[in-house]
Amino acid sequence: MNHPQSLLVAETGPFQVPKSPITDQASSAVRFSLVVPTYNEGKNVRAIVTILCHLLDEALPNDYELIIVDDDSPDRTWELAQAMTPEYPQLRVIRRQGERGLSTAVIRGWQAASGKILGVIDGDLQHPPEVLLQMLESVQGGADLVVASRHVEGGGVSSWSLTRRILSRGAQVLALTILPGVIGRVSDPMSGYFMLRRSAIAGRTLSPVGYKILIEVIGRGRMNTIAEVGYVFRERQEGESKVTWRQYVDYLHHLLRLRLSLGRVGRIRRSLSQWQLGRFVRFGLVGLTGVFVDTTLLYLLHDPSGLGWALTRSKIIAAEFAIINNFLWNDRWTFGDISSQQRGWRKRFKRLLKFNLVCLIGLGLNVVLLNVLFNSLKVNYLVANLLAIAAVTIWNFWINSRLSWRVTEVTRED
Ligand code: GDD
Ligand code: MN
Repeated sequence: MNHPQSLLVAETGPFQVPKSPITDQASSAVRFSLVVPTYNEGKNVRAIVTILCHLLDEALPNDYELIIVDDDSPDRTWELAQAMTPEYPQLRVIRRQGERGLSTAVIRGWQAASGKILGVIDGDLQHPPEVLLQMLESVQGGADLVVASRHVEGGGVSSWSLTRRILSRGAQVLALTILPGVIGRVSDPMSGYFMLRRSAIAGRTLSPVGYKILIEVIGRGRMNTIAEVGYVFRERQEGESKVTWRQYVDYLHHLLRLRLSLGRVGRIRRSLSQWQLGRFVRFGLVGLTGVFVDTTLLYLLHDPSGLGWALTRSKIIAAEFAIINNFLWNDRWTFGDISSQQRGWRKRFKRLLKFNLVCLIGLGLNVVLLNVLFNSLKVNYLVANLLAIAAVTIWNFWINSRLSWRVTEVTRED
């Protein structure tokens, strides 16, 4: 009996399916990768692997893989599955330790997959495997996503309790209210049985929560064509459902999070982040400290109670100290994430020179704007000064973020 294949190591880091299979799988890339998430399915695992492999050996000989993603089940489902690998060479097993959850298990499985088509099916035989063939036909016919649905022609649930039916439908209505654009695209958004083209989600960072991986995929993927096939959700024969009230709380949290990141609010947040609003606010606060330094020094240098120096000389020195103050704060705080990539005194001094130059030009602009507003447009000089400072702050920020703290992608080849 040859040794069971070694366990696959689960990906960590962002939940992002690669555009093409990870290198060592690229050579043996298959057409279809089916992920089976398991938790305490020790009593079902032999049956599910046998049935699925027989079905797919026929439909896609040597052109599919089965990836069991087990969350370190106490009943050692992963070990039972691993022992089957010599008999089923298309079977690969991931034992996750530390990370848990149905949705994340599915994505980690897809990240390890080599198929152009990715699928998910429960590991407890409640999803009828033969429906896979219809789904494959649909995807190969051009659909980006095919969902096995209980709510279309040929669909249904076996004897679900009234409570479970109400809960499931209630969950669907709630989802429709919060995320109509996503949930409304399928008749069974709660389904955990579907398949899709890798290209439909490749490169997209998913942030799944709880049990409902499908709404995450529809919400964040590029699904032009969605097809559905009816299936009857069967009674569980062995083991028990892991759905608790916790999954419902996760579900609500997931819906709200998707709403925030996909809807209008999400678009505003994304554009603001493109605009770097947070960074601009920090830049403005630093500017305020500069105004304080400038004013205080101007007073100490020019005022008769201080050194009583000439106004222009005092202003130039005060302004220069304010510029250095602003540079130090901006370099550490506002643009700290960028300057920490560009270490060394030489680079820092270069940034200071650029910042100084931009601020001196900004000072010139400030004076010109102040005069135009005050002399030509008859704006009160203090208001004119504030308007000029605001306009020049935006200009300073924009130029400095592109000049002094530019993200240099180029890495020197040493
Ligand atoms: N890896 C992993 N980690 N697998 C899990 C986890 C987990 O935390 N929780 C559950 N699973 C596996 C189970 O072992 C089973 O194979 C599958 O996910 C479904 O879990 P069940 O606990 O049986 O869910 P259910 O039958 O009540 O609900 C199912 O059907 C619904 C309708 O399709 C799930 O698939 C739901 O996601 C789905 O919405
Ligand atoms: Mn189940």
